[in-house]
Amino acid sequence: MIESIVLPAPGAPTERDLDPGLDLEAEIDRLRRQRNAVILAHYYQEAAIQDIADFVGDSLDLSRRAAETDADVIAFCGVRFMAETAKILNPGKRVLLPDAEAGCSLESSCPPDRFRAFREAHPDHMALTYINCSVEVKALSDIIVTSSNAESIIRQLPDDQPILFAPDRHLGAYLARKTGRDLLLWPGTCIVHEQFSERELVRLKVRHPKALVAAHPECPEAILNHADHVGSTSSLIRFVLDSTAQEFVIATEPGIIHQMEKLAPNKRFLPAPGMDESCSCSTCPFMELNTMEKLYLALANLAPAVEVPDALRLAALKPIERMLEMSPQPEPAKLRAAG
Ligand code: 13P
Ligand code: SF4
Repeated sequence: MIESIVLPAPGAPTERDLDPGLDLEAEIDRLRRQRNAVILAHYYQEAAIQDIADFVGDSLDLSRRAAETDADVIAFCGVRFMAETAKILNPGKRVLLPDAEAGCSLESSCPPDRFRAFREAHPDHMALTYINCSVEVKALSDIIVTSSNAESIIRQLPDDQPILFAPDRHLGAYLARKTGRDLLLWPGTCIVHEQFSERELVRLKVRHPKALVAAHPECPEAILNHADHVGSTSSLIRFVLDSTAQEFVIATEPGIIHQMEKLAPNKRFLPAPGMDESCSCSTCPFMELNTMEKLYLALANLAPAVEVPDALRLAALKPIERMLEMSPQPEPAKLRAAG
């Protein structure tokens, strides 16, 4: 879906042209003010990006921030579906994605033509779709959800309403267990959360018997069975802040540990182990494409920028607006400090 991204003009500066002595923090800050830009970052971004961002949050927090901003430019340090959501909510603003290739395995597991056929095969089902999907799939959906509002939104739907859930089968199965609803699941997965090893997690818990496990619901059930808390990235942060425990195993992308260490410097956070110790498979390969250099260049070049054709945008806007209307209000207190 790269065709929905406006790339930098030919001849625009690239990473090769950057002076190695450039003070990236100062330059990003200067450009942010010059462009009247807001920098939004997901918790899986590298530490320097989280630190320079105006706001750090989970997918729902970031959508809300994007809906509220009066900046002219949104520099979205996350993956494409997040930047696209910001553009759908703000058609008149320039929405930058520092690396145009920052996709998501869940998005690619759900091609729009196959999703359309799935919907057509189940015409009585309402399509509840995880925000980790393309604009086209959003446009084919009834309500968009994130990991922080999905359970509450399902509970607001009539008991006899059949529901199909796409594209994450682990999140869908978790929601089915939590709500007691019989959800028809699309077979997508997140390549990052699928990599955690139950065996290695149990070994780590044996070595750290007091550690509590905080897990994202994109993890398979075998991992979630060991969790003391399951929730969105914001919810995992709230859990470790509110808990009296001192040690935690974090079963999600380890970029979030930077924010946890900032907010609770006296607590200890251990990344959940993967299947293969020689590989850092729990790092999201898409999120890590964004760098400080690319953020600087994006603000300088005003590209890569997300574009969404108007008819498609209006079709995708409806289920996003339904999500925002049906979402519980955010908890204001501690998380604001994370922004
Ligand atoms: P959150 O909405 O919980 O931040 O999750 C986003 C995501 O992509 C998890 O892999
Ligand atoms: Fe997508 Fe998984 Fe990366 Fe989240 S961690 S952006 S779901 S690939």
